[in-house]
Amino acid sequence: MSFRARHLLGIEHLGPDEITALLDLADRYVALGRSAAKHADVLAGMTQINMFFEASTRTQSSFELAGKRLGADVMNMAMQASSLKKGETLIDTAMTLNAMHPDLLVVRHPNSGAVDLLAQKVTCAVLNAGDGRHEHPTQALLDALTIRRAKGRLHRLTVAICGDIAHSRVARSNLLLLGKMENRVRLVGPPTLMPAQAAEFGVEVTDDMREGLRDADVVMMLRLQRERMDGAFIPSEREYYHRFGLDAEKLAHAKGDAIVMHPGPMNRGVEIDGTLADDINRSVIQEQVEMGVAVRMAAMELLARNLRAARENGDG
Ligand code: NCD
Repeated sequence: MSFRARHLLGIEHLGPDEITALLDLADRYVALGRSAAKHADVLAGMTQINMFFEASTRTQSSFELAGKRLGADVMNMAMQASSLKKGETLIDTAMTLNAMHPDLLVVRHPNSGAVDLLAQKVTCAVLNAGDGRHEHPTQALLDALTIRRAKGRLHRLTVAICGDIAHSRVARSNLLLLGKMENRVRLVGPPTLMPAQAAEFGVEVTDDMREGLRDADVVMMLRLQRERMDGAFIPSEREYYHRFGLDAEKLAHAKGDAIVMHPGPMNRGVEIDGTLADDINRSVIQEQVEMGVAVRMAAMELLARNLRAARENGDG
């Protein structure tokens, strides 16, 4: 079996063969999700706990649905109401939950690195559902599956990732994954929203949307992450939309069959034109949501298999 990972903490730790194995399995779950009987009970008897320390709509609901479709007992911790409010640390909370013998722990946290730290303390498999501006591996994997299905391949494509790159774990995980699969990645955005080390990732960097989108196969738009900004990064939303917002005129510089992506939640009229986002001939934003459930089912199944094998060998 080519998927070796014990946790899913980031794309950084995955090999191309592991990515392909996961996407192949996810493809099967897309078909299952479209049928009337959506259950595959590969996690029957297992316990999945979702701990979200940051707001989430798509990611949390799709992890919950993925676990339920695989037959796990799924518990969503209401982190706002938990003992964290009483001053308990992240690690204490995790150890308390660990004592209840969960098999899968899905964690989103505002601090980069918090999920890695937690994974070192618990005995179950940990899935990173987004940590600060570090990584969001299942988002990159669902984006990859969406691209592979729309374009028929996941290599030698030109992908423009546009907008608030500096604060985006989605951008980071995506550029790692797309790089591992040998695609050409361009980062497009204002210099204030571009990480200082951008050029070190081996990608092209530009602050000109028309240049960045030229002949692109995939245009991935990102949300302005205001909650991670502690000052003025853009002059005004109107000005930002004018220069960096995706509309039909800017998209015309990409290939005629280029697809438009956005991880959500979208700010219509800020980073993307609302009509374009809803255009089913160009936008695959709804497909991304559908792929999210399938990719999370595949990730949890593969980790559960490795967890069972480790326990059988006595090193779990
Ligand atoms: C992203 C996230 O939380 O990092 N959203 C998501 O998971 N669908 C992107 C964002 O919040 O803009």
